[in-house]
Amino acid sequence: MKLMQRMLMAAAVIALITASGCNRSAKTSGAQSGTPSSAQGQAGDEKALVGVVMPTRSEERWIKDGNAVKEGLEKLGYSVDLQYSDDDIATQTRQIDDLITKGVKALVIASIDGSALSNQLANAAAAKIPVISYDRLLMQSPNVDYYVSFDNYKVGVQMGDILVTGLKLDQASSANPVIVELFAGSPDDNNSVGFYQGAMDRLKPYFDNGALKVPSGQIERTVIGTLRWDAAEAQKRMENLLSAYYSGDVVLNGILSPYDPISLSCLEACKAVGYGSTPGKPLPVVGGQDCIVASVKSILAGEQYATVLKDTRSLGAATVTLVDTIMQGKTPTGLDYTSYNNGAKIVPSLLLDSVIVTKDNVQSAVIDSGYHTLAERGKN
Ligand code: GAL
Repeated sequence: MKLMQRMLMAAAVIALITASGCNRSAKTSGAQSGTPSSAQGQAGDEKALVGVVMPTRSEERWIKDGNAVKEGLEKLGYSVDLQYSDDDIATQTRQIDDLITKGVKALVIASIDGSALSNQLANAAAAKIPVISYDRLLMQSPNVDYYVSFDNYKVGVQMGDILVTGLKLDQASSANPVIVELFAGSPDDNNSVGFYQGAMDRLKPYFDNGALKVPSGQIERTVIGTLRWDAAEAQKRMENLLSAYYSGDVVLNGILSPYDPISLSCLEACKAVGYGSTPGKPLPVVGGQDCIVASVKSILAGEQYATVLKDTRSLGAATVTLVDTIMQGKTPTGLDYTSYNNGAKIVPSLLLDSVIVTKDNVQSAVIDSGYHTLAERGKN
């Protein structure tokens, strides 16, 4: 797995090996023509300022993301203004306005609501500031230059894989079905679409042959979504599902979860009604995403079954290389020009690979790779 980590990092960097001397026009890329190369700002020895905006400091991953991008850019000599938006759209729009006023030379944005920033993006384009959409696609705007993320559809397939394996779906049948409930991510985050679509495509054969059943009948993404990925909201929904559909003999076997905090709060709701401590009611098989410390501990304790690791170090490194490439007036190569249409244009995308983590590979994928340090994990 160490090898796998190195391959992922290498792939991210190789994908961005640049074709020198190919300046993008300011019109199509938003990049500044005549921009001083690399980290040097217009004042010569002044460092170019890059604005980085992350959605919230209250979720573990965005802190890792913000640090990775900031540290990487600073190593190359850039100044970085890193802002966290407290999951509040008005705060995020104000922060981006302020960064434009401050004269940033590039913007890296992980949005809260992907469609809420059109005015800010238009202002950035007018000021010829290139915009990189970070992890979450900025929607409904032509003023997005690049997208750096993971292959979100494949992440969704992996979420489905986790249930296929963990619930042994190939051994299930309509005579002996497996019972699940489904959760999706925030409806205003385009990533939720890829996660849901990938997972549902993977699970479709089992729904079609009757091996998989959802007693609540709540299956559509709009119905099972979790606004702002709020784990407390998901827990409430899980509690309601358990009391409405599982008060008799029906036992819940599995949960489709798109995000570790949602997985953990669903497990809490299940434990509160006896799952994991009553004969015939083992904890349901639950996957997740982001490989947060609490989920790694839960996986090691045999509770959460699995998660999807999206290495924020690779995402940060790829973003840093992309920013530096653009700032040098070069054209990034190795991008995907077909997969991500934001409603206004196809956004050139750099899509990294993700890894399923279970008890079997948690040591190599998460701990030996240094993704979480011993200190972060405590004694577990
Ligand atoms: C998504 C992201 C996930 C997860 C979630 C909640 O956009 O792709 O990895 O972090 O937001 O923050």
